[in-house]
Amino acid sequence: MSEDHEIFTRLDQAQAAALPALEQAGDEAALQAWKTAHLGRSSAVMQAFSQLGQAPKEIRPAIGQRANQVKLALESAFAIRSQAIKEQALQRALQQEKLDVTLPGRPQPRGRMHPESRALETIYTILAEMGFQIFRTPEVETDDYNFSLLNIPAYHPARDMWDTFHTTRPGTLLRTHTSPGQVRAMRQRAPEPIRVALPGMCYRYEQTSARSEIQFNQVELLVVGRNITFGDLKGTLTDLARRIYGDNVRTRLRPSYFPFTEPSGEMDVECFVCGGKGCAVCKNSGWLEILGCGMVHPVVLQNGGYDPSEWSGFAAGMGPERMSMLRYGIEDIRYFWSNDVRFLEQFS
Ligand code: PHE
Repeated sequence: MSEDHEIFTRLDQAQAAALPALEQAGDEAALQAWKTAHLGRSSAVMQAFSQLGQAPKEIRPAIGQRANQVKLALESAFAIRSQAIKEQALQRALQQEKLDVTLPGRPQPRGRMHPESRALETIYTILAEMGFQIFRTPEVETDDYNFSLLNIPAYHPARDMWDTFHTTRPGTLLRTHTSPGQVRAMRQRAPEPIRVALPGMCYRYEQTSARSEIQFNQVELLVVGRNITFGDLKGTLTDLARRIYGDNVRTRLRPSYFPFTEPSGEMDVECFVCGGKGCAVCKNSGWLEILGCGMVHPVVLQNGGYDPSEWSGFAAGMGPERMSMLRYGIEDIRYFWSNDVRFLEQFS
């Protein structure tokens, strides 16, 4: 009988020890440790079951019953405690991760167009209104189109005007300006009249500085017809400047030199920063240069397949980055392609 007593006592003690220990378990890990200790295979209750066979036959049912009671008591206490701990954890999480739904949302960053793309689109729209078609020609050009056909023969000192990136293939280069597109357009359109805009990236082998980049856009204009005069050049370019800078902008043409136009000129607009009085942007001149232009040289017309005794034309080339720099007071042309979002984000 002493053995029977002993087992009952052990079960009672096991239960008496387990319940307060359960109250001490404060989190999921402690709960699991408690479960292993008090309901696991080597716990007193489970031992009572596995040793049932060794107990005298007549008290086995009583032991089994008692062990079951203890086991159920522990299991239900465990369930209650573990529910409570889950509840606590949830409450804590709710407290800590409290959402204030009245706070303003976090703004999503939005992409935007590159300032240069915007500038080009504005220019294209204006040119389309003026009847110019966009005509694209290659960035990798031949020496012929970039120079020789534009009346700049090999070894002519005028080539010094354009510092050139040559490719490894002799006779090919990255175009230094959009003017080679003039001859390409003429050769494709001859003998029809032409009114095209030739936009695109140009490259120059230069020391970069605040005012010059090794790559930049140009937008070239070419008009060829039977009676095109310098008056058409002046009228068209003045109109263009007004459409870009506003009706009241004043312009002037200065004589200049390009091998592929004769006569050649450069157009200035009145400085819109100081209104012509003189400031740092216009270097106190009151004027800002916006484009080079001229009447298409007879040699170039001929190279394009037009008889210069019957046909004439004018051409102009402008630098949209430079125009944006003047307009927005951008001090350094290198900002355009250095992809610094702090710069790009200012243009929305
Ligand atoms: N291609 C010239 C330049 O890059 C600009 C220009 C174009 C001048 C057309 C006259 C006519 O400087």
